[in-house]
Amino acid sequence: MTMTKKAAITAVGGYVPETKLTNFDLEKMVDTNDEWIRSRTGISERRILREPGKASSDMAVKAIEEILKKKQLDPLEIECIICATVTPDMVFPSTANIIGDKIGAKNAFGFDLSAACSGFLFALSTGASFIESGRYKKILVVGVDKMSSIIDYTDRATCIIFGDGAGAVLLEPSMDENGLQDSILKSDGSGRDYLNIKAGGSLKPASIETVMAKEHYAFQDGQPVFKFAVKGMADVSAELLEKNNLTGDDIAWLVPHQANLRIIDATANRMGLPMEKVMINIQKYGNTTAATIPLCLWDWESQLKKGDNLVLAAFGGGFTWGATWIKWAY
Ligand code: UT7
Repeated sequence: MTMTKKAAITAVGGYVPETKLTNFDLEKMVDTNDEWIRSRTGISERRILREPGKASSDMAVKAIEEILKKKQLDPLEIECIICATVTPDMVFPSTANIIGDKIGAKNAFGFDLSAACSGFLFALSTGASFIESGRYKKILVVGVDKMSSIIDYTDRATCIIFGDGAGAVLLEPSMDENGLQDSILKSDGSGRDYLNIKAGGSLKPASIETVMAKEHYAFQDGQPVFKFAVKGMADVSAELLEKNNLTGDDIAWLVPHQANLRIIDATANRMGLPMEKVMINIQKYGNTTAATIPLCLWDWESQLKKGDNLVLAAFGGGFTWGATWIKWAY
């Protein structure tokens, strides 16, 4: 019998831009108020990448540089970069390629993965499979989104939720039984009507008409997305626990996608987890799409202990959703 090595996260890095966009700033831009936003979403402020000429790759590079420094890693040792994003620098080439160039990872191949808010989980699972196969030993998985580049700041239904940021992890073969244990990932393309960008793809190439109709901005029909998200994220997390004979008592941390505090509450409840075991930073970063989960790991890194059971859970555009069980490796 061949022993396959598990894949372990061995370092975390993160980056959020300095500029804060508070609920009070938004009050001056659209018909909303701080009390509504906080009670409906849990968000107080989000970060916005304002500098001209800066894109998703620049935030990803900052997150990755922290990892390279922490691990004293030569970028030439990196074999693969997987970038989860829906706000690539350009339609092509991939943002992963641009990141590789900017950090000097000349020996790495890379590609982008598009799964919206579940992007980091899908990318983590993909990267882990490369490690488990024995083919690669050092993979960077990054979740990054510059949501401010696709948000209509006159649309109060979307502009209050989203923010910019990047989070990255290094994946290496596990030295023991810790690392990624199991994942359940799901997609349902019929959800495309509720959360999308209508133009700029091959269906509706950019034209003066699409720009005038604001079809290059993210569109979200909040209520149906909310309903699917509450059910999807809670169901898949419960399914993952059941499949692996785990209960809430076994779990040290739930690491949920940060879309709305009420969705997080529902998932924690369903798993039988008290809120002390749930990572929540939505109040200060908002919904950074592919970056929310690695940014939680970044904020909580110093509190994590070797062997801790973590459940990472997400729901987002597509629809895409999933949950991943990790035994923390350091
Ligand atoms: O990240 C990936 C996936 N995304 C999500 O998971 C997000 C899921 N959706 C949501 O989080 C919520 O649907 C939102 C936060 C987007 C909206 O919250 P909601 O509780 O679903 O609000 P609603 O759309 O049902 O609107 C309730 C009321 C409406 O007024 P009436 O019709 O009751 O008079 C809206 O017009 O609140 C009004 N409203 C606002 N009021 C102040 C909508 N947006 C705002 C606003 N400020 N920004």
